[in-house]
Amino acid sequence: MSNQRVSMHGMWSSRTVFVMATIGSAVGLGNIWKFPYITGQYGGGAFVVVYLLCIALIGIPIMMAEILLGRRGRASPISTMGRLAREEGSSPAWSLVGYSGVVAGFLILSFYSVIAGWALAYVFQTAGGALNGVTGESAARLFGDLTGSPVQLMIWHSVFMLMTTMVVARGVRQGLERAVSVLMPVLFVMLLVMVGYAVVEGDFARGFAFLFEADFSRVFQLCTGPAATPECRFTGEPVLVAMGHAFFTLSLGMGAIMAYGAYVPEHASITGATITIAVADTAVALLAGLAIFPIVFASGLEPAAGPGLIFQTLPIAFGNMPGGQWFGTMFFVLLVFAAWSSSISIAEPAVAWLVDTRNWRRAPAAWLVGALAWLLGIASVLSFNIWSGEEYQVFGKTFFELKDFLASNVMLPLGGLLIALFVGYGAARHMALEELAISRQRLFDAWWLVIRYVSPIGIAIVFLNSVGVF
Ligand code: PFF
Repeated sequence: MSNQRVSMHGMWSSRTVFVMATIGSAVGLGNIWKFPYITGQYGGGAFVVVYLLCIALIGIPIMMAEILLGRRGRASPISTMGRLAREEGSSPAWSLVGYSGVVAGFLILSFYSVIAGWALAYVFQTAGGALNGVTGESAARLFGDLTGSPVQLMIWHSVFMLMTTMVVARGVRQGLERAVSVLMPVLFVMLLVMVGYAVVEGDFARGFAFLFEADFSRVFQLCTGPAATPECRFTGEPVLVAMGHAFFTLSLGMGAIMAYGAYVPEHASITGATITIAVADTAVALLAGLAIFPIVFASGLEPAAGPGLIFQTLPIAFGNMPGGQWFGTMFFVLLVFAAWSSSISIAEPAVAWLVDTRNWRRAPAAWLVGALAWLLGIASVLSFNIWSGEEYQVFGKTFFELKDFLASNVMLPLGGLLIALFVGYGAARHMALEELAISRQRLFDAWWLVIRYVSPIGIAIVFLNSVGVF
């Protein structure tokens, strides 16, 4: 059966628009804020290798699966999974994948917006000259002042959530795509300039070695304390986090890409689009790492400084480079745009579901989703100040850390696992064959092998390992 369905939410006008919008979803805080800080926490090179392996063996095949399911079903992820399961004679329980994606989306949005709020605050700080001449110490103080103030964080969190909701309410076609197709390439060029700055002013050799020299004894170790005298313990956590991040950075496992796939024109090549998206996303993350770690080492900062890493290092570059006030302002503006085009995709599965099964209009659906995520976000705001103490932690994690861990490292990989299993076992082979329309049979066979065996077994091993089964 060839796919004649049309999405009730609108369609992308071309394959290029789809690719740009999906790059907009993939490239965001995950690449520029999260990748450097977790790479710093989990010890550098070996973590990066595991992350790259996860992108290649799990991320890319599952992204192809999500897009093909989305295009086949042409509805919100929940309806798509239900509809396809019915057509393929499988259990209706597969739509649980969609529901878990909606929950994961709320969890992610509720901290994503707070971090994007930091970037917004830095636009104004940088433009106002607050970063001029900063040192490592004063940059850390500035960051501490911001995160220590619940009021400021609430304001920026609210502004960013409003921005997100406004775009989601207007729908796919009138959204951010046009802006994103111009701004993402500019962000890319700015990152290149910052890598140039890191080469000249930073300790580039050490930063480069930290990112790319893999000490594999660190794959199963988590070290805390100062880099010179670390305390290390044996754990599967780095591998779990690297895999979780592969999902997070490619926006996989929660239906966001499936929702975007629903608006893809019929004859677009899914394989080509996926490779372009994954390469662009990975390149941005690696460039961010190359821009940041040389400054970390040159300024005597700790790579394992945590979520504040880029907000404590990049200001040093902006504060001391010629034209840094202007350049830094531009950079944070673009970071906000990158986060914005991601956050609208995080909300999309929930909104599309309210629209196509509950018959809501798009605008009220978007406002409801935005309001709920905003409320949940208050816990993330307080995690950095009033609720940062141990008495407010659960399993040794603040609410912010807990939501990130649960969504990125548990729900997204689990969602990805189920998506791989549905495509590989729950549906007939010819469904994938038809949708992917790969002309070279060998290439299809390789993907089929990976989606049925390599990705699911890989995810299962990482999970079992991290709960201590072996
Ligand atoms: N991929 C985005 C980033 O790297 O910032 C975050 C994200 C977007 C996660 C959409 C999940 C999602 F569905």
